[in-house]
Amino acid sequence: MRRLADFTIAAMVLVAGGLGLGGPVRAADPQEGYRLASQWCTTCHVVAPDQAGSDAARPFDSIANDPNFTEDGIRAWLVDPHPPMPNPNLSTAEIDALIAYLKSLRP
Ligand code: HEC
Repeated sequence: MRRLADFTIAAMVLVAGGLGLGGPVRAADPQEGYRLASQWCTTCHVVAPDQAGSDAARPFDSIANDPNFTEDGIRAWLVDPHPPMPNPNLSTAEIDALIAYLKSLRP
């Protein structure tokens, strides 16, 4: 009986945890990337074409439309940026979202 109770609790925790994740995993969302960029990147980059702001580093639409822009290259940079850019310690999901947002800036 004790084992059954333990099992029931474990199952409830699993179900609650699954619901907490908000259901099935979604594909990288450019809107989420924009939200992250607005939060973390605007001190140095202009992240949206209509944003006035710091131009300490290249604007995102310039990066996105650079022929040298590759998903792997941007990913490698974001995993391990070089100074003066600080390392924001982004998760893989956050990097995916930021790349999806950068791609959305292409014409
Ligand atoms: C404190 C300032 C600062 C912040 C904050 C910052 N960056 Fe940067 N970033 C730079 C600088 C400076 C460079 C250029 C470095 C170089 O060319 O050596 C750069 C370069 C880049 C590049 C490479 C561009 C290229 O030419 O290859 C990417 C991509 C990039 N940043 C994305 C981001 C993203 C995404 C964020 C937010 C999560 C961010 N940066 C936040 C300063 C910053």
